[in-house]
Amino acid sequence: MGLSRRDMLKLGAFGAAAVALPLERAASAKSATDRIAASKLPKPYTVPFAVPPVLEPVRKDATTDFYSVTMRPGQAEILPGYQTEVWGYDGIAPGPTVRATRGRPIVMRQINGLPARHPVLGFDAWTSVHLHGSASLPQYDGYASDITSPGQYKDYRYPNNQNARTLWYHDHGVHHTAENAYLGLAAMYVLTDPLEQSLPIPHGRYDVPLVMRDAMFSSTGALIFDDNSHSGVYGDVILVNGRPWPAMKVERRKYRFRILNAAISRGFRWALSTGDDFVVIGTDGGLMRAPQRTRELRHGMAERYEVIIDFSKYKIGERVLLKNLGVKNSRDFETTFDVMAFDVAAEPTSLEGNAIPDVLNPDAAAMDLSPAPGIKTRKFEFVRKNGQWTINGITWQDVIDSGYELVWADPGLGDTEIWEFKNTSGGWFHPVHIHLVDFQVLDRNGNPPFAYERGPKDVVYVGENETVRVITTFGPNLGRYMIHCHNLVHEDHDMMAQFRVGPPGAGPDPRLAAPALLLPAPPL
Ligand code: C2O
Ligand code: CU
Ligand code: CU
Repeated sequence: MGLSRRDMLKLGAFGAAAVALPLERAASAKSATDRIAASKLPKPYTVPFAVPPVLEPVRKDATTDFYSVTMRPGQAEILPGYQTEVWGYDGIAPGPTVRATRGRPIVMRQINGLPARHPVLGFDAWTSVHLHGSASLPQYDGYASDITSPGQYKDYRYPNNQNARTLWYHDHGVHHTAENAYLGLAAMYVLTDPLEQSLPIPHGRYDVPLVMRDAMFSSTGALIFDDNSHSGVYGDVILVNGRPWPAMKVERRKYRFRILNAAISRGFRWALSTGDDFVVIGTDGGLMRAPQRTRELRHGMAERYEVIIDFSKYKIGERVLLKNLGVKNSRDFETTFDVMAFDVAAEPTSLEGNAIPDVLNPDAAAMDLSPAPGIKTRKFEFVRKNGQWTINGITWQDVIDSGYELVWADPGLGDTEIWEFKNTSGGWFHPVHIHLVDFQVLDRNGNPPFAYERGPKDVVYVGENETVRVITTFGPNLGRYMIHCHNLVHEDHDMMAQFRVGPPGAGPDPRLAAPALLLPAPPL
């Protein structure tokens, strides 16, 4: 697929005079007055790249790994010379990465050590932790209204019985998910399995997480949260693993990057400054059947793409930039086209896992589904009504008002269905996420999806005036699960619904089966 002239300009392909685009500046008067001066931001590619630390279990027994995490405020030097308060898992943002193995379940204690209310934003600091990409039981899925308040804890159980994939855990507390995730409550969770381990693709230090987001800072270095009247949160600083526009030293070989868009509202469109391809090998639900090459990649919030970049074709001393070409209806700043740099610094110290096999994952179950005649289709319209974000005109408040019983769909266990997501607006896009399942994207406005979307997914980008169809089989669990837009501002206000696998009453109650408990917690 070709890049437009405008995209080429953003890539700087026509030289330094490039970026003379109409750029929107401050998000609002409020943030504009207090926003840190552009001159105080670090120059792109001056901060060294780093990856989040890996979380260590507190204990292991014959079958299970036990972890304990405290959600709490922490101080971070994100912008050089400034201290920023974040709210993070163990006080860091992004939180520590969990490394899990298929077949070994995890119990993850989440202690809410946050202050009762946010000192500036004033909301009650309840949380709910969702492991995005996991087929968890309803009571461990981070159901928005299954909240843990400051002074409480909850032990989440993660089965880890799916195929290898890139997951992430993030806040899902009802009405304040956007604030909590923006303040830092988001982290990666990598699940591995023997098939993935056996492939000659990059592993170990050549398998690198990239947690992407944007943020806005005040003149004192504090995070500014401004949701622009519930439309979206946009910052002028791009953070990769919590660092502004970092530079990473790479060897002349292939690397695998697990790219997570952890932004609240910003979509990205990735491209390399060299114009070279990414090779996409994995999507939300793990490895694709076959690798797909692309020069640019549109990446909505909460989607994960695993891409391989081959640095062997560059010379030592060359710098390759990862750029963001921007998407429609994300507010661009002149600084949001820059993302990070790869500095080709050395010959490879190892050439293990330096290949891209033609067949990656022959058994991504969702990819085997086909839309046979007679399969039930359900339609969901993502639409703004009376200032509220809704799905088919209904909101999460309607779910609450129904005593958490109201469902939009009630597939039976093991049923295969086609769900059609419609966005008739030209003014916004909605990355739509279905909990519990992996799906296959069938088509977008009747056309095949992008080649790089041809892998198991749990979020799909429903762009302006797009209708997207996905197909999935409902299971393996019974019960009530959420479906929502992953622009977390939309989700909070109130574009979130639920479906139920099974008949009324099926499955454990997401709020009542394992409620949060008061601290102090007994030993794990
Ligand atoms: Cu990543 Cu319901 O969320
Ligand atoms: Cu999810
Ligand atoms: Cu939305």
